[in-house]
Amino acid sequence: MEIQLWRELLHPYEMAVEEIVSKFNALREEYKKNSLYSPIERVTGRVKSVSSILEKMQRKNVSFENLEQEIEDIAGVRVICQFVEDIEKVASLIVMRQDMKVIERKDYLANQKKSGYRSLHLIVEYMVETIHGPRRVLAEIQIRTMAMNFWATTEHSLQYKYKGEIPPHVSLQLSKAADAIFVLDNEMSQVRSEIIDAQIDSQIQTRLVKDILTAIENLYHVASTREVRKIQDEFYRIYSLHDLEELKRFQKQLDIFAEGYRAQSVDSAPL
Ligand code: GTP
Ligand code: MG
Repeated sequence: MEIQLWRELLHPYEMAVEEIVSKFNALREEYKKNSLYSPIERVTGRVKSVSSILEKMQRKNVSFENLEQEIEDIAGVRVICQFVEDIEKVASLIVMRQDMKVIERKDYLANQKKSGYRSLHLIVEYMVETIHGPRRVLAEIQIRTMAMNFWATTEHSLQYKYKGEIPPHVSLQLSKAADAIFVLDNEMSQVRSEIIDAQIDSQIQTRLVKDILTAIENLYHVASTREVRKIQDEFYRIYSLHDLEELKRFQKQLDIFAEGYRAQSVDSAPL
């Protein structure tokens, strides 16, 4: 195939990867904005290189005509989660979507591969709008935990190093590491709710402090400097207590105080 044709072939896949990655990032942001725990920790994507496509075509005996149907991972997106439980949540978010249709699910969590590989793969159909009109492409979405990702990237490098022929003693080591990853993910699940609570509290605190500082800044326009200083000192005192509830209470008081000034300025505004 001509180089120019490869470029044309791959372009819709580049669009698909870019769009899907940014849509998943938007979901993550939506969770964060609502002070909710995000099952999506990180999203990455890539378009398969021409050399990998050629290698896979040879290995699977795929012709150029069938390339786009049979090589399902020309567009690849990876969603990294903190906990095993998040993987199904992400899958259900994808199933719910109108802009991608799941056509195949490969569950290497329930059915771990012989190598030790674990992940949930969804093959989806995704529509991109090109200058030649709409184009439907396949994309492979891999959903896995950080620990699974650590294992898979390491194993992948070793596959590369040994050109796919990993020696038995290394395989054994990898298999042991995969078992350890499985145990680690389960251990982390045991403390999942505590970790989630802590992360959400930290997000709420960041937002609260930001809002409080803005409110204090605004007070400088209406209240006396002495008064604002007093409020500021009180904020630092409360902040040092490391108590979210105290911070929330302080913010409410600050609101009432600021409201008082707003009412005053409305009263004194010329009609
Ligand atoms: P290829 O494995 O790419 O030939 O595709 P396939 O059609 O056999 O699909 P499969 O679901 O087996 O693998 C798809 C992708 O999952 C691969 O391209 C890898 O990114 C990943 N994967 C599958 N098995 C392994 C594995 O044993 N180790 C690692 N590191 N990754 C794997
Ligand atoms: Mg394979």
